[in-house]
Amino acid sequence: SAGAMVGSAAFAGAKVLPAPARALGPAVSPAAEGVKEITLSAAERPFALPCFGGRTVQLWTFREGAFPPVVRMKLGETLRAHVENLIPREGEHITVHWHGIRLPNAQDGVPYVTQRPIEPGESFDYEFTPPDTGTFFFHTHCNTAEQLERGLAGVLIIEGDETEPYDGERLIVLRDWSIGPDGGIGSFYSAEGAGRAGTFGEIRTANGAVNPTLNVPSAADIRLRILNVDRTRITQLGIEGAECAVVAVDGIAVPPFPLKAWRAGPAMRLDVVMRTPAPGGSATLYDYYAAEPVPLATFCTEGPPLRSRDFDPAPLRAAIIPEPGMADAEHLRFDFSAAVGAPVPVTGGAPETGKFIGELCLAPQTFWAINKQSWPGRDHSTVPPPLATLTRGRSYVFTLANATPHIHPIHIHGHSFKVLKSNKRNLPVHHADTVLLMPKERVEVAFVADNPGDWMFHCHIIEHQETGMMGILRVA
Ligand code: C2O
Ligand code: CU
Repeated sequence: SAGAMVGSAAFAGAKVLPAPARALGPAVSPAAEGVKEITLSAAERPFALPCFGGRTVQLWTFREGAFPPVVRMKLGETLRAHVENLIPREGEHITVHWHGIRLPNAQDGVPYVTQRPIEPGESFDYEFTPPDTGTFFFHTHCNTAEQLERGLAGVLIIEGDETEPYDGERLIVLRDWSIGPDGGIGSFYSAEGAGRAGTFGEIRTANGAVNPTLNVPSAADIRLRILNVDRTRITQLGIEGAECAVVAVDGIAVPPFPLKAWRAGPAMRLDVVMRTPAPGGSATLYDYYAAEPVPLATFCTEGPPLRSRDFDPAPLRAAIIPEPGMADAEHLRFDFSAAVGAPVPVTGGAPETGKFIGELCLAPQTFWAINKQSWPGRDHSTVPPPLATLTRGRSYVFTLANATPHIHPIHIHGHSFKVLKSNKRNLPVHHADTVLLMPKERVEVAFVADNPGDWMFHCHIIEHQETGMMGILRVA
């Protein structure tokens, strides 16, 4: 593809994989119309969490019942979401951000930037028509480390991308939990965490359980929709005991390629087709990130085998995303670094006073910056000037450069960008809304700035986001 060639001179030593053999299916086309109405009531609710022995934990959820809530709709439908804030804490405002959806700016759910925050007792109605099929999620964009930890997130699935139906589907929602002996939510922010790799939960879970068993048909092609909705954890996902192919990344279809060990940080999603083992067999989803692999979910087969032919999963339909014009694209570089004059993270102690950089007061604990600019404060109430203003309709190539020894999953709102290459890793060219920057890694992404508005651009390790590694890209 064009993306594989352009810019290689400018990006010496870059690595690109050969194009896969199997092509994408024909482009998606809306198969439905009409309105999908939902209500999300953010409230405190007791929830019997499997990883806590089924005992009750007080969560903040968007809905009664299953956690996380799953919203399914068809491509072409309009989502109308009535969101109310019933959180029982004074001043605890919320918003809902529809992560990865290319929607109008006013529906993006960022407090003070795209809307007034929803105060307790208030409500807000979102309405948009998602343009892409795939696996997405939604989450609060306020006091995010705490609210996300307490549960304010859900899954959003836009159907209509399968060229041939698979034999089934399983949702795998990954996150850690930190729960005190009394069922209280544990720590979700620490200065040492925020200033380094983040604060981790102790209990690794899939769908709220520790290495749950999921029954699947035998010798079947099962679509796994895997979401990392953790605040902090970087995973490296692989499946042992079954042949698997990646068919979509961050919701957007890719020509199928074998799943080996795919790094998925917070907010990243992966759609995988797994040929399940023969009757009586099992396969396991692992996180290979640490030296000792961690089993996350186990698939056990049941019933007669469904398929006998070799594994060659049907591709998904191609998304319709404008192709960046590489010849006349404007190139911009963004450096992700420690904050200028950042204090060394300390444990406990009295909070330091904030310091002023230009007009903006930085929170006492500001550790990170993008192009030397730190987001002011821990919340969104002070909005800094944009990091860059992009010309609407113009193509851009961003070089995202990590100057730190930590990993940062970098997210751009309102657009799906093409990940072209890395100076360190072999990556297939694919679309994404969040891309990992490994320590000292440079990644090139390209997109058409076709969606007007002020869009957030931030690390999705929430403690990094809330201690400076966030900014605004203006498309005008
Ligand atoms: Cu999923 Cu600005 O976030
Ligand atoms: Cu980060």
